[in-house]
Amino acid sequence: MTGEPLTAPSLAWASTGAWVPEGNWVPKASAIAREGGARLREFFAQGVATEYKGDVDLVTIADRTVEKLIRARLAETFPEHGVYGEEGTRDRLEGEFRWYVDPLDGTTNFAHGFPQFCVSMGLEQRASNLKPDEDGTLVAGVIYDPLRDELFAGEKGKGAYLNGKRMHASKTTELAEALLATGFPSRKRHSSPNIHFYQEFTLRSHGVRRAGSAALDLAYVAAGRLEAFWEFNLNPWDTAAGILLVEEAGGCVTDFQGNHYRIDSAEILASNGNIHGELIALFGDMFAGRNLAPIPTAAEWAAERQARAAADR
Ligand code: IPD
Ligand code: CA
Ligand code: CA
Repeated sequence: MTGEPLTAPSLAWASTGAWVPEGNWVPKASAIAREGGARLREFFAQGVATEYKGDVDLVTIADRTVEKLIRARLAETFPEHGVYGEEGTRDRLEGEFRWYVDPLDGTTNFAHGFPQFCVSMGLEQRASNLKPDEDGTLVAGVIYDPLRDELFAGEKGKGAYLNGKRMHASKTTELAEALLATGFPSRKRHSSPNIHFYQEFTLRSHGVRRAGSAALDLAYVAAGRLEAFWEFNLNPWDTAAGILLVEEAGGCVTDFQGNHYRIDSAEILASNGNIHGELIALFGDMFAGRNLAPIPTAAEWAAERQARAAADR
């Protein structure tokens, strides 16, 4: 991670809330995310039962309780703002501001006791003449990892911060020297081609992590811990906060063709900016079936192993 020394405003923003940026969104949203994260930490320590909401898509009492808590706190704190939450909240969506809330990003990890999950809250500002399917502007984002006590927060035009310290996307310029991340869907897994992308990117980089929380993956791109992240079929509650943070940290977010990212886009590619062109070119090759790195199938590898053993006898 790269970072500058703490500055007075960012320190105040993160710890005391004394510095009030335009809109006063981030200090208050950070307090809400921290409260939600504290509840997640308690549920995680005690262990929770798991239900299925489809295929291998898990949900727990922690997801529902924390969404309810965040919904109530947002209504008290920003009574005019809308809330669009993964667990079903659809409040005041006709207004100028809308929070996309994932109360627990990384539910599968959480349910298995794997310590990688977070609260994610992204704020969109929508002009009054926008159609329901048109995007507004992402103006604030807060992602809180309660187990590491890491708060990633930012506001449009004011930079992105990790626990009060300015974040910058990494300076790496080559895919070959990049650490990447991706994720896989928990629904319709057999119709996702992502495993092919996982293979190809693994062969061309320092590696691809699949840590199970898209919001933290995006926060890590912003923090310079990862050079890039991509995934198919995410939702605005997974991505809204992270997109704002990546852009404020100097990175870049598009679809797989390099087009401007839309909040409900089915594809997301976020990077430090420097390797974005190389990534887009590789996506182009992948979709065209060009220049792919060959590896043996398991059956070919087993046959070769058998042949080697026979030759050694
Ligand atoms: C999931 C996580 C995961 C990603 C999945 C998401 P959830 O969110 O972000 O990393 O690969 O596509 O659905 O269900 O844990 O909130
Ligand atoms: Ca999620
Ligand atoms: Ca979730």
